[in-house]
Amino acid sequence: MSEITIQSTEAQGTWLITLADGRKRGVTVLTPAILHVYDADVPAPHNRDVVSGQAQAVAAVVDDHGDHVTLATSALTLTMDAVGYVDVVDASGQPVVTAYRGRRQPLDTNADPALADAEHAAAHHAMVGEHHVSDVPGATPIEVAFTLADDDHFYGLGDKTGFTDKRGYAWENWNSDDPTPHQEDLVRLYKSIPFVIGLHEDRAYGLFFPDTFPSRLDLGRESRDYFYYNAVAGRLDYYIFAGPAMPDVVGEYTWLTGTTPLPQKWTLGYQQSRWSYMNRQTVETVAAKMREYHLPFDAIHLDIDYMDGYRVFTTDPKRFPDFKQMVAQLGEDGVKVVTIIDPGVKQDPGYRVYDEGVAHGYFAKDAAGKLYVNRVWPGKSVFPDFGAPSIRKWWAHNTDFLTENGVSGIWNDMNEPASFDGPLPDDVALTDEDHGTTILELHNVYAHNMARATYAGMKAKTGKRPFIITRAAFSGTQKFATVWTGDNRSTWALLRLVVPQLTNLGLSGFSFAGTDIGGFGESATPELLTRWIEAAIFSPLLRNHSAIGTPLQEPWVFGEPTLAIYRKMLELRYRLLDLLYDLFEAGTRTGLPVMRPLVLHYQDDATAQTINDEFLVGETLLAAPVVAPGVDHRMVYLPAGEWLDYWTGEAYTGGDYYVVAAPLDHLPLFVKNNSILPLRPLVEYVEPATEDTLGFKVFGTHGHYEHYQDNGEDFAYQNGAFNRYVIDVDDNEVRVALSVDGLDQHYDTIFVEVSGVAHQFAYSGSTGTYQEI
Ligand code: GLC
Repeated sequence: MSEITIQSTEAQGTWLITLADGRKRGVTVLTPAILHVYDADVPAPHNRDVVSGQAQAVAAVVDDHGDHVTLATSALTLTMDAVGYVDVVDASGQPVVTAYRGRRQPLDTNADPALADAEHAAAHHAMVGEHHVSDVPGATPIEVAFTLADDDHFYGLGDKTGFTDKRGYAWENWNSDDPTPHQEDLVRLYKSIPFVIGLHEDRAYGLFFPDTFPSRLDLGRESRDYFYYNAVAGRLDYYIFAGPAMPDVVGEYTWLTGTTPLPQKWTLGYQQSRWSYMNRQTVETVAAKMREYHLPFDAIHLDIDYMDGYRVFTTDPKRFPDFKQMVAQLGEDGVKVVTIIDPGVKQDPGYRVYDEGVAHGYFAKDAAGKLYVNRVWPGKSVFPDFGAPSIRKWWAHNTDFLTENGVSGIWNDMNEPASFDGPLPDDVALTDEDHGTTILELHNVYAHNMARATYAGMKAKTGKRPFIITRAAFSGTQKFATVWTGDNRSTWALLRLVVPQLTNLGLSGFSFAGTDIGGFGESATPELLTRWIEAAIFSPLLRNHSAIGTPLQEPWVFGEPTLAIYRKMLELRYRLLDLLYDLFEAGTRTGLPVMRPLVLHYQDDATAQTINDEFLVGETLLAAPVVAPGVDHRMVYLPAGEWLDYWTGEAYTGGDYYVVAAPLDHLPLFVKNNSILPLRPLVEYVEPATEDTLGFKVFGTHGHYEHYQDNGEDFAYQNGAFNRYVIDVDDNEVRVALSVDGLDQHYDTIFVEVSGVAHQFAYSGSTGTYQEI
């Protein structure tokens, strides 16, 4: 009698495996490169729009060997043995992941957990969030361990602290608003993205654990022999992505969980924020100063004080008289308004949002079925049960209040959810689509569900691509919202975090991400603010934000030379804005982010694997910001190939370090030889309808570039309303062609600069082509 059996099922691409002890495992082949392994004895949880990729009709060859079974696609072969251990190899037989079959061996085997807790070391042993792995009543802890080799590296995991390579650390997935500085010993932050990219013998693969219960990923902290995932409850459930190139892994993961959608074009412009611009006059003054100082600028953010007593979906009539008219007036000057919204609803009988929610049972209840109350900005507050479709619909309608006032973006904050009177107890009752569960299961997708609701509301009301910023998130939230990295500080340590954090968010599907430029807490010095705007200038969300009670840090506050350097950086950003937009458009198809770690394109380069203070924008632009004080030169590592200094054209051969000058006003920037960048004329704010001229600059002697154009605003592009321009330059010819011509609007003039000579092309409406003049 065989110990293990495998049989196909009626579900597409799914096999059922019966282990020696009768337990059942499922394996689904989604694509040849994506396998899904799960405990088939436990029903699948709701997907909650986390996973969106559907299994394709994929051939797999299945063999039953008695004591193990194999399942092979063209890219991966999975072996499961009779006790359920899983090994996966690629098409050439090279290991992708190999089950760790030994015992867990915590490094300090003499540790007394109680003593360790007392020493505040708790986060580093068997804790996940506030939960010990074994202490959830009735739940089975889940654990999956794979072998680890000395030269393995790890990336992804969303917004975690630390360095680019996550090897050697353990991370927890339990969305947390923790005021501790975001340094590498802070193991959980606002977002939970249980997705990791492994690099083994220079081949990349991915693992994704979609379960929403508190979990951890120990990536070689506990042992040099294995890495593991565990969770306090839920079900064994994970996806394996084949790679072996890292862009393939990112493409596979975002195929599964969704790519970052195309944003409105203005959202790539500069945004100014503060907790808070306290009244209408201050808002108008800040906006006017941006224009007065010729700082390109697209949006101002209103933090909690625009509301009436922190009641969501209200405005304060005294401090912000005639709110709608204020928004309209700013709009005439090209300034959009983004308003904050927190989930906590003030407990205040007579207040419409509270009354409606109570009347319909829209708020979370405690275990005894009573309204659950905690405290947030408005004082005593209640929490919408976003897991229920009807409640998301209600929230979506509530956002009409803002969009009808002309607001262009909604900034969802405090949605872990944060609460001032201790965390919400694990038994707080919430709805999971169609049945009841507790917050232990839904905490990590609370913000995700809030973002889904906000997205639906804004899209239905405005017809535009919703601009939503969220602090907390789960895998898949990238389909609905932009993210920022929460409450950082004006310290050099946190400036150093910008590159690892944003590039890992990018590898985790969140291309549209940013940091509070200048730092949120503490006080920025002129030098720190200057280096921060340089380091962040290609972060898709480009927003300066700071906390109440800290010194102001708008670009003009420190006078010169900060102001002039800040302007120089914003001008660089706006001239290259079409590069970002083109990368976003490509990313909707490939899943690749705008800001990329070097390792994404140079995965077999040992220096690129661990570099923390350089990044790529797309594939061709490399930035090496200064992230330490008192520096006027820095080492720059250039990976393989020929590179040109963006500013001077000086040539460098890659595969080596160079010492380059980096005085305060200089961002070291390099371009891959023989590539093309779009460079648009300078504007004060983004206005796609008026774009009639575009320039391209050839770095080197030849190159190829594809540029995308649409109305920058709505969904008409999904019905073909877009153009694609192909720029080709070789040794003796410069060509500009339209490869897709679906948008009525065309540039009248296109310039292509080659070796300092500008070639000018004019659009001929009658032939629909560009001719050099
Ligand atoms: C939270 C947010 C911060 C905001 C503040 C007040 O700390 O992270 O960005 O300014 O709340 O709303």
